[in-house]
Amino acid sequence: MLSKAEVVARYLPETLQVKPSAEAFAPSNIALCKYWGKRDNALNLPVNSSLSISLGHLGTHTRLALSDSGEDKVLLNGKEQALDSPFAAKAIAFWDLFRRDQILPIEINTTNNIPTAAGLASSASGFAALTKAINEFANLNLPIDVLSAFARMGSGSACRSLFDGFVEWEMGQLEDGMDSHGIALEASWPDLRVGLVKVETGEKAVDSRSGMKRTVETAHLYQSWPMQAAMDIQKLRQAIADKDIDALGMTAEHNAMSMHATMIASWPPLLYWQPASVAVMQNVWGLREQGVSVYLTMDAGPNIKLLFEADQEAAIKAVFNDMEVVAPFAS
Ligand code: ADP
Ligand code: DP6
Ligand code: CO
Repeated sequence: MLSKAEVVARYLPETLQVKPSAEAFAPSNIALCKYWGKRDNALNLPVNSSLSISLGHLGTHTRLALSDSGEDKVLLNGKEQALDSPFAAKAIAFWDLFRRDQILPIEINTTNNIPTAAGLASSASGFAALTKAINEFANLNLPIDVLSAFARMGSGSACRSLFDGFVEWEMGQLEDGMDSHGIALEASWPDLRVGLVKVETGEKAVDSRSGMKRTVETAHLYQSWPMQAAMDIQKLRQAIADKDIDALGMTAEHNAMSMHATMIASWPPLLYWQPASVAVMQNVWGLREQGVSVYLTMDAGPNIKLLFEADQEAAIKAVFNDMEVVAPFAS
């Protein structure tokens, strides 16, 4: 089995030439067909392909600079993080893949305008922004497919955050994983909206990484997941081509519920839902009974994301008044 360092090294010059500083932004993304389960835990290679929508201006801004003090330094939302915290350790370990044995102390100053580690895909925008910033900082000029595959090594879902709009992450089949990266779909859908209904924005107790590992290792129900995901990707491609919100929403909601069923069937059981999440679900189903085209999806966290078109926004906002609305294809 290959290590990340071996794979990344093939794309690097012998000696990195870094700029004084560099910065990048990457959007967060919400999967409509989820990535859940890895076939290679080291390289974050998935069991199934997935499909997402990027969240426009919601995501991560990351600035890199050579550290004046000669020590690595990591700031999240303006607050310095202890170097031995999991947050700083993961970000520095990612930079280690690039600097190798060169003495290049770094200051990573990153800002999330979505909650961190709450099931709103901060790992996706976080590692995508870090990868883009490293590409600038170290003058790598790598193609976007390679950057997407590198971001995937930081966090799987990050490979989709290199792109805007609808993105498919092809699972790939190569041992080094370099064919496992995001691909932007051509489609545009100006009336599509994603609503974020926040139930709890604190950090989750079980991160996505351990959650999916537990599911793969202990849930017998997981056996059926790869087939469901493969079917859902096909349906989503068609729904996107047809701009059919009901087909898109139904498929995404069914996919999310199926993923959560595999989590609940793990041992010990993994339930990311809070009572308030269930209340939101029931309100969404109530709206649908009244003829409103609104669908939900959820990731590894208690927060709910809604899918609908612009003409339904007022009816939905009447129920969820503090919902944040994103127009992924707004210019
Ligand atoms: P989420 O649902 O927010 O993606 P995860 O459990 O998948 O939650 O990942 C959270 C982890 O993502 C954090 O602990 C941290 O390691 C990483 N992360 C989040 N934001 C950033 C960022 N801006 N820069 C680097 N890493 C980040
Ligand atoms: C439920 O990409 O956060 O949000 O690869 O271990 O970093 P790691 O996990 P991560 O998992 C995301 C899981 C999900 C579904 C999805 O975004 O596709
Ligand atoms: Co994540």
